[in-house]
Amino acid sequence: MSIRIHFLPDDITVDAEVGEALLDVADRAGVLIPTGCLMGSCHACSVELEDGDIIRACITAIPAGRKELTINLFSDPTW
Ligand code: FES
Repeated sequence: MSIRIHFLPDDITVDAEVGEALLDVADRAGVLIPTGCLMGSCHACSVELEDGDIIRACITAIPAGRKELTINLFSDPTW
């Protein structure tokens, strides 16, 4: 089952499969999510979901149970 992933602020939409790594999906979409450790500890890859949850892209896979997912990249990181 594929899920429509909507990346903000670039306003790019791609289809992804449940369980696919979020970084791979972003890569395919041509969206650059900054990364560091790739192990879930540095938070460089933090992005925000439409409900305000902050997730770490490097340890996140596309979840089942919804048809669309909006992912908001921080355009101006403050660390
Ligand atoms: S790249 Fe370090 S937490 Fe994701």
